[in-house]
Amino acid sequence: MAPEPRTPSPPPCTLRAVRPADAEAVLAAFTANPDMARQGEVGTLDQARTYVEWLLGEKRRAVAVAGPDDTMIGLVAVSIEEDNKVGWFFYWMHTDARGRGLAARAAATVADRALSRSDQGGWGLDRLELGHRANNPASGAVARAAGFVHAGTERQKFLIDGERHDVLTYGRLRTDPPPATPHLPRG
Ligand SMILES: CC(C)(COP(=O)(O)OP(=O)(O)OC[C@H]1O[C@@H](n2cnc3c(N)ncnc32)[C@H](O)[C@@H]1OP(=O)(O)O)[C@@H](O)C(=O)NCCC(=O)NCCS
Repeated sequence: MAPEPRTPSPPPCTLRAVRPADAEAVLAAFTANPDMARQGEVGTLDQARTYVEWLLGEKRRAVAVAGPDDTMIGLVAVSIEEDNKVGWFFYWMHTDARGRGLAARAAATVADRALSRSDQGGWGLDRLELGHRANNPASGAVARAAGFVHAGTERQKFLIDGERHDVLTYGRLRTDPPPATPHLPRG
């Protein structure tokens, strides 16, 4: 009997550096879900270009999650404070690409790299930190999947639409155990 034809697996999503040509994809992500509003002010292509320029600034490392056709569908980035070897870690995914474990895998890959020594191809940071609103549990799940440890609660830090929101803070040290979350390949 002839073997069943196998469905080819889809080409993988990859990680690559953000580039100026990603502005259109950034605009698409920011306009696809109102929950992106807290990530920056991007409602036009010009604003998307400014946001990408900011990502590409000297004190930042910005990694795109790219779909099989190389379109940017997500971001993991770190704002670096050189003197302290500390990085502020942040991420987002286009709403259509969420819920597939990509943010968790991308964040784990970038965090591992950021905390690796420079002579091993890493960015040589000693500590990463992030914060997310308490009513954004998906962000906390991504942070934990990337090896971050809950550090505390900044009570009622933000005022959004007349309501105060707690922010949960997380940190990961170079010496913390790396997570078991699988990496995404480089494109
Ligand atoms: C936060 C965000 C990046 C998560 O993206 P995602 O693609 O859904 O994440 P993943 O598919 O990798 O899922 C990661 C984890 O979140 C969990 N998760 C996803 N949506 C969730 C929800 N609404 N409530 C609780 N957990 C959720 C998943 O179950 C998974 O956890 P697990 O590994 O324990 O199963 C995405 O929701 C986003 O871009 N939000 C807007 C921007 C933002 O809030 N960024 C973070 C700012 S601090």
